[in-house]
Amino acid sequence: MNDTLKLIHDRRSTRAFDDKPIPYDVVESLIKFTLRAPTAGNMMLYTILKVDDPEMKQKLAESCDHQPFIAKAPLLLVFLADYQRWYDYFLRSGAEELCKEKGMQPRKPGVGDLMLAVNDTLIAAQTAVIAAEALGLGTCYIGDILEKYEYHRDLFRLPKYVLPVTMLCVGYPRERDDDRPLTRRFDPKFVVQHNHYYRLEGLELDMMFKGLGPEKVEEGMPNFGQQMYLRKFASEFSVEMTRSVQAMIDSWNA
Ligand SMILES: Cc1cc2nc3c(=O)[nH]c(=O)nc-3n(C[C@H](O)[C@H](O)[C@H](O)COP(=O)(O)O)c2cc1C
Repeated sequence: MNDTLKLIHDRRSTRAFDDKPIPYDVVESLIKFTLRAPTAGNMMLYTILKVDDPEMKQKLAESCDHQPFIAKAPLLLVFLADYQRWYDYFLRSGAEELCKEKGMQPRKPGVGDLMLAVNDTLIAAQTAVIAAEALGLGTCYIGDILEKYEYHRDLFRLPKYVLPVTMLCVGYPRERDDDRPLTRRFDPKFVVQHNHYYRLEGLELDMMFKGLGPEKVEEGMPNFGQQMYLRKFASEFSVEMTRSVQAMIDSWNA
């Protein structure tokens, strides 16, 4: 296996970080390589917030579903979908006036623009994950940054067309636990389909999920589907995430 493929294959989420701070030039490199990510129309529709203030990290550890390890990461990178700078630049450039002169209807950023910016933002985040690995750092995504929109908006002082999409904890792994088995994945035969979508059902569905679930389900849970529904889908954080993302979309469209 070549080095790049081995790095992708062996990556795992890091949730225990060494106290060692990340040297300035390593953070600079991480950002430099992250910004090489492909980006729609070369517009770079994202901003990366570097958070290293202990008080802010503590606040985020609480607001992101009470995950104490977040505060212990030396660096947090918050990936923000950002249409604000382009929209401000369009207005500053007199783009709307030209639009009207040409008989076209000026418009504001809509949900299509938001979705594209979210794509850009996530591609940058995953590029950061791979660059971090190559620099000897470990990372863990924090999806809970999608919760409590109003709180995070005020904490980061976000304008209307800037929304939090994901967050990465970054730092040197406390120990290299290379012996720990990698997390399981669906068998490729279920994930990759050919030309037309094929909706799995019945025993095929059971087979697919058998490959992903743990050897034993949690005590008190009759099966893996029920366990995941209660833990991940119907849980408080999940309901809050849906409320918060709806609030983001409403604010973007207001
Ligand atoms: C969008 C996204 C959100 C995630 N959010 C969290 C999180 O809030 N807390 C956490 O500990 N891990 C989080 N993770 C990490 C996943 O749990 C992890 O990637 C998954 O269990 C597979 O393990 P691996 O990364 O070690 O292969 C997140 C991952 C992704 C891609």
